[in-house]
Amino acid sequence: MSRQWKIAVLPGDGIGPEVTDQALRVLDAVRRRFDLVFETAEAVVGGAALDREGTPLPEATLLLCRESDAVLFGAVGGPRWDHLEGELRPEAGLLGLRKGLGLYANLRPAKLFPALAAQCPLRPEISGGDFDLLFVRELTGGIYFGQPRGISGEAGARVGVNTEVYSEAEVERVARRAFQLAGKRRRKLASVDKANVLESSRLWRDTVTRLAGEYPEVELEHIYVDNAAMQLIRRPRDLDVVVTTNMFGDILSDEAAALTGSIGLLPSASLGDGPQGFYEPIHGSAPDLAGQGKANPLAAILSLAMLLRHSLDLPEAAAAVERAVEQVLTAGYRTPDLGQGRPVSTQGMGALVVEALAADR
Ligand code: NAD
Ligand code: IPM
Ligand code: MN
Repeated sequence: MSRQWKIAVLPGDGIGPEVTDQALRVLDAVRRRFDLVFETAEAVVGGAALDREGTPLPEATLLLCRESDAVLFGAVGGPRWDHLEGELRPEAGLLGLRKGLGLYANLRPAKLFPALAAQCPLRPEISGGDFDLLFVRELTGGIYFGQPRGISGEAGARVGVNTEVYSEAEVERVARRAFQLAGKRRRKLASVDKANVLESSRLWRDTVTRLAGEYPEVELEHIYVDNAAMQLIRRPRDLDVVVTTNMFGDILSDEAAALTGSIGLLPSASLGDGPQGFYEPIHGSAPDLAGQGKANPLAAILSLAMLLRHSLDLPEAAAAVERAVEQVLTAGYRTPDLGQGRPVSTQGMGALVVEALAADR
C-alpha cells in the first residue's frame, strides 16, 4: 500500500446524490479489491449549498476541492432554483469550480458499447456497432465567461449580452492536450469552430493550425460546427478526437451521448496542468427522475474510472471498473433509459457493478 488519496465528493442536486452514491459504492469495492486507502470528504454545491448557505459555491467547498487529489461531482440545478439570476444560480457553483480550479480541458469520451448497439438511433451500417469518440471541450473560457455580459435597459427595451472571447494562450493549451491525446489514439484530430462567421473562431483555427506543425503524426481536419453536428450522425466512425470551444463542446457532447444510447452513460474528466482533476457525468440533475431510483448511475461510475486513471494513476483499477460496467451491460441489465433487457434500478445497477468488480480477477 503506497499512499492515501483524498477525494472530495460533491453530490449536488436532483439525481446527483443518487448516482454519486453508486460511484462511492464502486470506490469502496475498488478499495477492497486493490487494497487501497481513499479518504473521502463530502461538501455541498449548487442548489443544496444555496439552501444551506445562501451561495452555490461556499468557500469551504472550493477549499476542500483545492486540497484534494480529485473531485467526484454529481450534478447541480433544478426548477426550485430556476428563478435565481447569475451568480446565485446552482450552475454558477459548477462554473466557479471549473474556473477556480483551472480545469480548462474537459475530456468527454463517447463510445458505443457493443452490448448497447441496438440502442444507437443510427442504422447499424452507419454506427458500425462500436464507434469511439473523445471530445476535448475547452472549459474555462469562451462565451461562458467572456465580458461584457449581462442584461441592461428599461423593461420592454432590455438588451442581453454575452461575449465569445478566446486568447491564443487559451486555445493553445487545450489544443495541445487534444493533439497529445490524439497521438495516443487513432492520430486523427477534428477541430470544430465557426471560423466562417466568428473572429474568435478564426483565432481558434489559426492557433490550432499553427500547432499542427509540432504534431506531424496527427492528421488535423477543421470542421464548422453546423457541419460537425451533421457529420456526427453521418459518419461517427470517421471521427476520433474532437477539440472545440466551451459552448460547442457542451452541445455536441449531448448529441454524441444520444448516439451511445443514453446520456446516462457518458462520463467526463476536467483537467488543468497537473494531475488534479474533477470528474462528473455529462448529464444534469434530471429533476424528472430524481428520488425514484430510475437514474442510470453508469456515467457517474465511469467518471470514477476516469478519476482513478487520470488523477490517481491507477490504470488497472480504472480498467477493472470499466470491465465491470461492460460485463453488466453484456449480461443485459438495463436502467429504464437503456431500453429493454433485465430491468434494474439505480441502486441495482450499482450493486451489479460492485459484484462484477469483486469477481474480476
Ligand atoms: P439533464 O441532463 O438533467 O436531463 C436531460 C434528459 O436526460 C432528461 O430526460 C433526463 O431524465 C435524462 N437523463 C439525464 N441523466 C440521466 C441519467 N443518469 N439516467 C437516465 N436519464 C437521464 O438536462 P436538463 O433537463 O436540460 O437539465 C436539468 C437541470 O440540470 C438544469 O437545472 C440544468 O441546468 C442542470 N444541468 C446540470 C449539469 C451538471 O451539473 N453538470 C449538466 C446539465 C444540466
Ligand atoms: C454540462 C452542463 C453545464 C455546462 C451547465 C450545468 C453549467 O450543461 O456540464 O454539460 O453548460 O457546462
Ligand atoms: Mn451540458
